[in-house]
Amino acid sequence: MGSMSKKMDIPLGALEVEAKTFEEGILLAGDLGLKDIVLEGDAKVVIDALAGSSSPPSSIQMIIEGFQRSKASGDRGRRKDKAGGDRRFVFGDRLKDKVDGGTAALVEIEVHRLKASGDRGRRKDKAGYGADHPRYGSTLATKGVGHLVRKGTGGRSSVSGIVATVFGATGFLGRYVVQQLAKIGTQVLVPFRGSEDNPRHLKLMGDLGQIVPMKYDPRDENSIKAVMAKANVVLNLIGREYETRNYSFEEVNYTMAEQLAMIAKEHGGIARFIQVSCLGASPSSPSRLLRAKAAAEEAVLREIPEATIMRPAVMVGTEDRIMNTWARSAKNYGFLPLIGGGSTKIQPVYVIDVAGAIVAALKDDGTSMGKIYELGGPDIFTIRELAEIMYDVIREWPRYVKVPFPIAKAIAMPREFLLNKVPFPLPVPFMFNLDQILALTKDTVVSENALTFNDLGLVPHKLKGYPIEFLIAFRKGGPQFGSTEPHGAKMGGAGVSYIS
Ligand SMILES: NC(=O)c1ccc[n+]([C@@H]2O[C@H](COP(=O)([O-])OP(=O)(O)OC[C@H]3O[C@@H](n4cnc5c(N)ncnc54)[C@H](OP(=O)(O)O)[C@@H]3O)[C@@H](O)[C@H]2O)c1
Repeated sequence: MGSMSKKMDIPLGALEVEAKTFEEGILLAGDLGLKDIVLEGDAKVVIDALAGSSSPPSSIQMIIEGFQRSKASGDRGRRKDKAGGDRRFVFGDRLKDKVDGGTAALVEIEVHRLKASGDRGRRKDKAGYGADHPRYGSTLATKGVGHLVRKGTGGRSSVSGIVATVFGATGFLGRYVVQQLAKIGTQVLVPFRGSEDNPRHLKLMGDLGQIVPMKYDPRDENSIKAVMAKANVVLNLIGREYETRNYSFEEVNYTMAEQLAMIAKEHGGIARFIQVSCLGASPSSPSRLLRAKAAAEEAVLREIPEATIMRPAVMVGTEDRIMNTWARSAKNYGFLPLIGGGSTKIQPVYVIDVAGAIVAALKDDGTSMGKIYELGGPDIFTIRELAEIMYDVIREWPRYVKVPFPIAKAIAMPREFLLNKVPFPLPVPFMFNLDQILALTKDTVVSENALTFNDLGLVPHKLKGYPIEFLIAFRKGGPQFGSTEPHGAKMGGAGVSYIS
């Protein structure tokens, strides 16, 4: 019992460990088919309680009662009893002195044969230390798939019980979601299109064999079914903020989501479906992307009312497409265009916080099911205020070109016009993306009564500091270049200059 108790990986006190170890020992003996078992242990209190000669202290009462009940009912529970028949449990020599105040006799505990009928696989004792104890239970709310198998202490080499297919795992948010899932011992199925190299960086994030890249074609239903077949969780991170000749906004951001939800529903064993949408998604948005995202939310919730919708604000992080794009513009052209004058309000969020919110929702007891969360950072900035922070980190003189909306649209229009008219692909619109320009005509911040990080038990990071430290790569004299003083002070109070 002593050596077994050292293997117990649950946070229990000394007495509980002793009692629980006895219980495990007895179950193990049953598994091994032993008829006579000698139990050795140190805690007299536990022995007396097991022998029924004194009542157990409250900390081990449940365990002892469960044991006594199973004795009385003959239901030994979740493990198969290879021994069969009645068996004798005898306390060993070291315990003889402890039982009955030292005088005594061997204590025998009879454990009856497991009932031939009934549930042999799981313990029926719900109040006791059975399958419903947190150690065996799952925090994942299950719908139709039964209990998930969990094992280990919750780290990378544990088994979380979650097998997640993450559509869009090869993208910016995807890598952080996969990393956070993998580090709790989740098996992650990574559908990818294109080259085998696309998901390669994800493989190291989990234990051997836990990250499984699977080639698929988003337009082939069978291939989607194949990548979802073994999963009990589906995350949809697929999205794109510009159209290509092959894919419209609607197909990527709406139709694919709807199709995934329909297949997940048909699957029948998908316990959780999380759809990543966008803050500002609305059928009345000026942006086609945001209208498509709103349609996707509606379709997903129609198919799977228990799905969870995450609406992140614009995401910031090492591979982002906002701060990096701005810094590149500032470095390459010496200025940053401020579309609409830079007065639009946004609420940027750290990408790792968004990944954290997704994983927190998965791990909860089901409270996030059927809910919509708006994930914005702790601060609201105008575009210009955020640009100033960027300039501050890259230690460049802030220079802006204010571009009124009509002019920005005129610059962006030719790509949209020519996209399906020329027989070759057009460049990706990084700075002047017509749809994003339209989205910028409205402020995009978390709405007042929305569920947020707070409701998932998380506090999002402030952007100033580590989340945007990756921008130091843009400092022209290396990471230590320049001063940490605010620009105004460093540059004689002038601070900002505009080119009009
Ligand atoms: N980035 C943001 O600031 C932001 C803000 C709010 C909401 N969101 C939403 O959050 C989600 C993840 O964003 P992200 O920044 O990680 O996006 P991302 O880096 O562009 O990645 C998008 C993912 O979607 C996949 N994808 C795109 N078009 C596809 C298509 N036609 N067929 C199949 N897969 C396709 C990509 O696969 P490939 O690698 O094969 O291209 C990639 O895995 C998206 O739904 C996005 O709309 C993003």
